[in-house]
Amino acid sequence: MKILIASSIHPQAIATLGEKHDVVCAFNAKEEVLKPLLSDREVLIFRSGIKFTADVLECAPDLKIIIRAGSGVDNIDLNYVNQHGISLVRIPGPGAKAVAELSFAYMLALARNVLEANRLTHQGHWAKNELTGYLLTGKVLGVVGVGNIGSRVAHLGTAWGMRVLGCVENPSSARAEEFSKTGVQLVDCDQVLAGSDFVTLHVPLKTSTHYLINAQSLARIKKGAFLVNLARGGVVDELALLDALKAGHLKGAALDTHEAEGEGIVSPLAGLPNVILSPHIGAGTFDTQLEIGEIILKEMSAFTAPQN
Ligand code: MLT
Repeated sequence: MKILIASSIHPQAIATLGEKHDVVCAFNAKEEVLKPLLSDREVLIFRSGIKFTADVLECAPDLKIIIRAGSGVDNIDLNYVNQHGISLVRIPGPGAKAVAELSFAYMLALARNVLEANRLTHQGHWAKNELTGYLLTGKVLGVVGVGNIGSRVAHLGTAWGMRVLGCVENPSSARAEEFSKTGVQLVDCDQVLAGSDFVTLHVPLKTSTHYLINAQSLARIKKGAFLVNLARGGVVDELALLDALKAGHLKGAALDTHEAEGEGIVSPLAGLPNVILSPHIGAGTFDTQLEIGEIILKEMSAFTAPQN
Protein backbone atom coordinates (compact mmCIF):
# COMPACT_ATOMS: atom_id res chain seq x y z
CA MET A 1 0.00 0.00 0.00
CA LYS A 2 1.05 3.63 -0.33
CA ILE A 3 1.87 4.93 3.14
CA LEU A 4 2.74 8.40 4.42
CA ILE A 5 4.40 8.44 7.85
CA ALA A 6 4.01 12.00 9.09
CA SER A 7 5.57 11.70 12.56
CA SER A 8 8.59 9.95 13.94
CA ILE A 9 7.72 6.37 14.86
CA HIS A 10 10.05 3.49 15.76
CA PRO A 11 12.69 3.01 12.99
CA GLN A 12 12.20 -0.76 13.04
CA ALA A 13 8.52 -0.30 12.16
CA ILE A 14 9.44 2.07 9.33
CA ALA A 15 11.99 -0.41 7.98
CA THR A 16 9.57 -3.35 8.12
CA LEU A 17 6.77 -1.36 6.48
CA GLY A 18 9.24 -0.33 3.77
CA GLU A 19 9.91 -4.00 2.88
CA LYS A 20 6.28 -4.56 1.90
CA HIS A 21 4.87 -1.16 1.08
CA ASP A 22 5.63 2.10 -0.71
CA VAL A 23 6.57 4.30 2.27
CA VAL A 24 7.14 8.04 2.27
CA CYS A 25 8.30 9.76 5.47
CA ALA A 26 7.75 13.46 6.14
CA PHE A 27 7.92 14.04 9.87
CA ASN A 28 6.02 17.07 11.16
CA ALA A 29 6.03 18.61 7.70
CA LYS A 30 4.22 21.85 6.95
CA GLU A 31 0.86 21.71 5.12
CA GLU A 32 2.35 22.85 1.82
CA VAL A 33 4.74 19.86 1.94
CA LEU A 34 2.11 17.38 3.14
CA LYS A 35 -0.62 18.20 0.65
CA PRO A 36 1.18 17.06 -2.54
CA LEU A 37 2.60 14.00 -0.73
CA LEU A 38 -0.93 12.89 0.19
CA SER A 39 -2.23 12.82 -3.40
CA ASP A 40 -1.83 9.02 -3.87
CA ARG A 41 -1.49 7.82 -0.25
CA GLU A 42 -3.79 5.10 1.08
CA VAL A 43 -2.44 4.97 4.62
CA LEU A 44 -1.50 7.82 6.92
CA ILE A 45 0.43 7.26 10.15
CA PHE A 46 1.13 10.06 12.63
CA ARG A 47 1.38 11.18 16.26
CA SER A 48 0.70 14.52 17.96
CA GLY A 49 2.50 17.63 16.77
CA ILE A 50 0.84 17.68 13.35
CA LYS A 51 -2.74 18.56 12.42
CA PHE A 52 -4.92 16.86 9.82
CA THR A 53 -7.75 19.24 9.02
CA ALA A 54 -10.40 18.55 6.35
CA ASP A 55 -8.49 20.93 4.08
CA VAL A 56 -5.38 18.72 4.32
CA LEU A 57 -7.25 15.40 4.20
CA GLU A 58 -9.04 16.46 1.02
CA CYS A 59 -5.66 16.15 -0.68
CA ALA A 60 -5.73 12.38 0.02
CA PRO A 61 -8.61 11.07 -2.15
CA ASP A 62 -7.35 7.46 -1.91
CA LEU A 63 -6.97 7.46 1.88
CA LYS A 64 -8.35 4.25 3.42
CA ILE A 65 -6.76 4.03 6.84
CA ILE A 66 -5.42 6.45 9.40
CA ILE A 67 -3.22 5.02 12.13
CA ARG A 68 -2.98 7.43 15.04
CA ALA A 69 0.19 6.13 16.69
CA GLY A 70 -0.99 7.16 20.13
CA SER A 71 -4.10 8.29 21.91
CA GLY A 72 -5.37 11.82 21.22
CA VAL A 73 -7.60 12.56 18.24
CA ASP A 74 -7.74 16.31 18.78
CA ASN A 75 -5.43 16.78 15.77
CA ILE A 76 -7.73 15.03 13.26
CA ASP A 77 -10.95 16.24 11.67
CA LEU A 78 -13.08 13.32 12.82
CA ASN A 79 -16.15 14.47 10.86
CA TYR A 80 -14.17 14.26 7.64
CA VAL A 81 -12.83 10.82 8.57
CA ASN A 82 -16.31 9.47 9.36
CA GLN A 83 -17.99 11.05 6.34
CA HIS A 84 -15.41 9.55 3.98
CA GLY A 85 -15.49 6.05 5.48
CA ILE A 86 -11.81 6.16 6.41
CA SER A 87 -10.80 3.58 9.05
CA LEU A 88 -9.25 5.18 12.11
CA VAL A 89 -6.99 3.06 14.31
CA ARG A 90 -5.86 4.50 17.64
CA ILE A 91 -3.09 2.93 19.72
CA PRO A 92 -3.71 4.30 23.22
CA GLY A 93 -2.39 1.45 25.39
CA PRO A 94 1.42 1.75 25.24
CA GLY A 95 1.51 5.52 25.77
CA ALA A 96 -0.71 5.28 28.84
CA LYS A 97 2.02 3.48 30.79
CA ALA A 98 4.63 6.06 29.82
CA VAL A 99 2.43 9.07 30.55
CA ALA A 100 1.39 7.66 33.93
CA GLU A 101 5.03 7.17 34.92
CA LEU A 102 5.97 10.66 33.77
CA SER A 103 3.08 12.15 35.77
CA PHE A 104 4.58 10.53 38.82
CA ALA A 105 8.08 11.66 37.93
CA TYR A 106 6.82 15.23 37.75
CA MET A 107 4.90 15.04 41.02
CA LEU A 108 8.01 13.71 42.76
CA ALA A 109 10.24 16.28 41.09
CA LEU A 110 7.91 19.12 42.12
CA ALA A 111 7.50 17.86 45.68
CA ARG A 112 11.25 17.44 46.20
CA ASN A 113 12.54 20.46 44.21
CA VAL A 114 14.60 18.06 42.11
CA LEU A 115 15.22 20.45 39.23
CA GLU A 116 16.26 23.32 41.49
CA ALA A 117 18.47 20.99 43.56
CA ASN A 118 20.13 19.78 40.39
CA ARG A 119 20.64 23.31 39.05
CA LEU A 120 22.12 24.67 42.30
CA THR A 121 24.35 21.66 42.90
CA HIS A 122 25.72 21.90 39.36
CA GLN A 123 26.69 25.48 40.25
CA GLY A 124 28.52 24.29 43.37
CA HIS A 125 25.86 25.66 45.74
CA TRP A 126 25.17 23.23 48.61
CA ALA A 127 21.52 24.18 49.23
CA LYS A 128 20.73 21.33 51.62
CA ASN A 129 18.79 23.55 54.03
CA GLU A 130 16.92 25.48 51.31
CA LEU A 131 15.42 22.52 49.55
CA THR A 132 13.14 20.85 52.06
CA GLY A 133 10.29 19.23 50.16
CA TYR A 134 7.15 17.20 50.72
CA LEU A 135 6.19 13.54 50.77
CA LEU A 136 3.67 12.10 48.35
CA THR A 137 2.95 9.30 50.82
CA GLY A 138 -0.06 10.19 52.94
CA LYS A 139 -1.15 13.02 50.60
CA VAL A 140 -4.24 13.26 48.42
CA LEU A 141 -3.85 12.62 44.70
CA GLY A 142 -6.55 14.10 42.49
CA VAL A 143 -6.97 12.53 39.05
CA VAL A 144 -9.09 14.59 36.67
CA GLY A 145 -10.17 11.98 34.13
CA VAL A 146 -9.80 8.45 35.48
CA GLY A 147 -9.66 6.79 32.06
CA ASN A 148 -6.98 4.82 30.26
CA ILE A 149 -4.10 6.94 31.59
CA GLY A 150 -5.72 8.39 34.71
CA SER A 151 -6.53 4.96 36.12
CA ARG A 152 -2.85 3.99 35.81
CA VAL A 153 -1.83 7.16 37.65
CA ALA A 154 -4.43 6.38 40.30
CA HIS A 155 -3.01 2.87 40.66
CA LEU A 156 0.51 4.28 41.13
CA GLY A 157 -0.92 6.71 43.69
CA THR A 158 -2.47 3.96 45.80
CA ALA A 159 0.80 1.99 45.62
CA TRP A 160 2.55 5.14 46.85
CA GLY A 161 0.30 5.34 49.89
CA MET A 162 -1.75 8.28 48.64
CA ARG A 163 -5.50 8.72 49.05
CA VAL A 164 -6.90 8.98 45.53
CA LEU A 165 -9.81 11.17 44.44
CA GLY A 166 -10.93 10.96 40.83
CA CYS A 167 -13.60 12.24 38.48
CA VAL A 168 -14.97 11.08 35.13
CA GLU A 169 -17.18 12.66 32.51
CA ASN A 170 -20.11 10.31 33.08
CA PRO A 171 -20.18 9.25 36.71
CA SER A 172 -22.66 6.74 38.09
CA SER A 173 -23.04 4.84 41.33
CA ALA A 174 -22.01 1.64 39.52
CA ARG A 175 -18.81 3.26 38.30
CA ALA A 176 -18.16 4.75 41.76
CA GLU A 177 -18.44 1.27 43.23
CA GLU A 178 -16.06 -0.17 40.61
CA PHE A 179 -13.53 2.60 41.26
CA SER A 180 -13.77 2.18 45.02
CA LYS A 181 -12.59 -1.43 44.59
CA THR A 182 -9.38 -0.02 43.07
CA GLY A 183 -8.91 2.51 45.87
CA VAL A 184 -10.26 5.51 43.94
CA GLN A 185 -12.98 7.64 45.49
CA LEU A 186 -15.12 8.95 42.64
CA VAL A 187 -16.24 12.54 43.28
CA ASP A 188 -16.98 15.54 41.06
CA CYS A 189 -14.30 17.68 39.45
CA ASP A 190 -14.65 20.51 41.97
CA GLN A 191 -14.19 18.05 44.85
CA VAL A 192 -11.05 16.68 43.19
CA LEU A 193 -9.67 20.20 42.85
CA ALA A 194 -10.59 21.29 46.37
CA GLY A 195 -9.48 18.13 48.11
CA SER A 196 -6.17 17.20 46.50
CA ASP A 197 -2.55 18.03 47.26
CA PHE A 198 -1.51 16.92 43.76
CA VAL A 199 -3.90 17.44 40.85
CA THR A 200 -3.06 15.59 37.65
CA LEU A 201 -5.01 16.05 34.40
CA HIS A 202 -5.83 13.17 32.05
CA VAL A 203 -8.75 14.31 29.91
CA PRO A 204 -8.81 14.57 26.12
CA LEU A 205 -9.06 18.04 24.59
CA LYS A 206 -12.58 18.70 23.34
CA THR A 207 -15.11 21.49 23.62
CA SER A 208 -16.18 20.43 27.13
CA THR A 209 -12.58 20.28 28.45
CA HIS A 210 -11.19 23.40 26.79
CA TYR A 211 -9.93 25.63 29.64
CA LEU A 212 -11.33 23.18 32.19
CA ILE A 213 -8.58 24.64 34.39
CA ASN A 214 -9.21 28.38 34.28
CA ALA A 215 -9.10 31.23 36.80
CA GLN A 216 -12.28 30.00 38.53
CA SER A 217 -11.29 26.36 38.77
CA LEU A 218 -7.73 27.28 39.81
CA ALA A 219 -9.22 29.27 42.69
CA ARG A 220 -11.03 26.10 43.78
CA ILE A 221 -7.78 24.12 43.95
CA LYS A 222 -6.51 23.71 47.50
CA LYS A 223 -3.97 26.42 48.35
CA GLY A 224 -0.46 25.06 48.16
CA ALA A 225 -1.33 22.18 45.81
CA PHE A 226 0.71 21.11 42.77
CA LEU A 227 -0.77 20.83 39.26
CA VAL A 228 0.44 18.46 36.54
CA ASN A 229 -0.78 18.58 32.92
CA LEU A 230 0.22 15.74 30.63
CA ALA A 231 -3.15 15.74 28.87
CA ARG A 232 -3.36 18.44 26.24
CA GLY A 233 -2.54 22.09 25.94
CA GLY A 234 -5.83 23.96 25.89
CA VAL A 235 -7.15 22.05 28.90
CA VAL A 236 -5.32 24.63 31.05
CA ASP A 237 -5.57 28.40 30.63
CA GLU A 238 -1.84 29.02 30.99
CA LEU A 239 -2.16 32.76 31.72
CA ALA A 240 -4.58 32.01 34.56
CA LEU A 241 -2.14 29.37 35.81
CA LEU A 242 0.67 31.92 35.66
CA ASP A 243 -1.39 34.25 37.89
CA ALA A 244 -2.16 31.42 40.34
CA LEU A 245 1.53 30.52 40.58
CA LYS A 246 2.71 34.12 40.95
CA ALA A 247 0.11 34.70 43.67
CA GLY A 248 1.45 31.65 45.52
CA HIS A 249 -1.93 29.91 45.35
CA LEU A 250 -0.29 26.87 43.77
CA LYS A 251 3.09 25.64 44.98
CA GLY A 252 4.19 24.43 41.59
CA ALA A 253 3.17 23.02 38.23
CA ALA A 254 4.49 20.70 35.55
CA LEU A 255 3.33 20.83 31.94
CA ASP A 256 4.29 18.43 29.19
CA THR A 257 1.50 19.63 26.89
CA HIS A 258 1.02 23.27 26.01
CA GLU A 259 -1.40 25.66 24.34
CA ALA A 260 1.26 26.36 21.73
CA GLU A 261 3.78 23.64 20.92
CA GLY A 262 6.78 23.48 18.63
CA GLU A 263 10.31 24.65 18.02
CA GLY A 264 10.97 28.22 19.13
CA ILE A 265 7.78 28.63 21.17
CA VAL A 266 8.34 29.92 24.70
CA SER A 267 5.65 29.14 27.27
CA PRO A 268 4.26 32.05 29.32
CA LEU A 269 5.29 29.93 32.33
CA ALA A 270 8.94 29.74 31.29
CA GLY A 271 11.40 31.00 33.85
CA LEU A 272 9.32 30.27 36.95
CA PRO A 273 11.51 28.18 39.27
CA ASN A 274 8.56 26.10 40.52
CA VAL A 275 7.44 25.11 37.03
CA ILE A 276 8.62 22.10 35.03
CA LEU A 277 8.13 22.32 31.27
CA SER A 278 8.79 19.59 28.72
CA PRO A 279 8.14 19.20 24.97
CA HIS A 280 5.22 16.72 24.90
CA ILE A 281 7.39 13.71 25.72
CA GLY A 282 4.73 11.77 27.67
CA ALA A 283 4.78 8.79 25.30
CA GLY A 284 8.47 9.19 24.55
CA THR A 285 10.04 6.01 25.87
CA PHE A 286 11.89 3.52 23.67
CA ASP A 287 9.70 0.75 25.10
CA THR A 288 6.51 2.61 24.24
CA GLN A 289 7.53 3.48 20.70
CA LEU A 290 8.73 -0.09 20.08
CA GLU A 291 5.37 -1.43 21.27
CA ILE A 292 3.45 1.10 19.17
CA GLY A 293 5.58 0.17 16.14
CA GLU A 294 4.77 -3.51 16.63
CA ILE A 295 1.05 -2.74 16.84
CA ILE A 296 1.24 -0.63 13.66
CA LEU A 297 2.77 -3.63 11.85
CA LYS A 298 0.00 -5.94 13.15
CA GLU A 299 -2.69 -3.46 12.10
CA MET A 300 -1.20 -3.18 8.63
CA SER A 301 -0.99 -6.98 8.30
CA ALA A 302 -4.62 -7.30 9.37
CA PHE A 303 -5.66 -4.59 6.95
CA THR A 304 -3.86 -6.11 3.99
CA ALA A 305 -4.68 -9.76 4.77
CA PRO A 306 -6.88 -11.39 2.10
CA GLN A 307 -10.55 -11.32 3.12
CA ASN A 308 -12.51 -14.63 3.09
C1 MLT B 1 -0.75 10.66 22.36
O1 MLT B 1 -1.81 11.24 22.12
O2 MLT B 1 -0.66 9.44 22.35
C2 MLT B 1 0.43 11.47 22.75
O3 MLT B 1 0.22 12.80 22.58
C3 MLT B 1 1.70 10.98 22.20
C4 MLT B 1 1.97 11.30 20.79
O4 MLT B 1 1.13 11.14 19.92
O5 MLT B 1 3.08 11.72 20.52
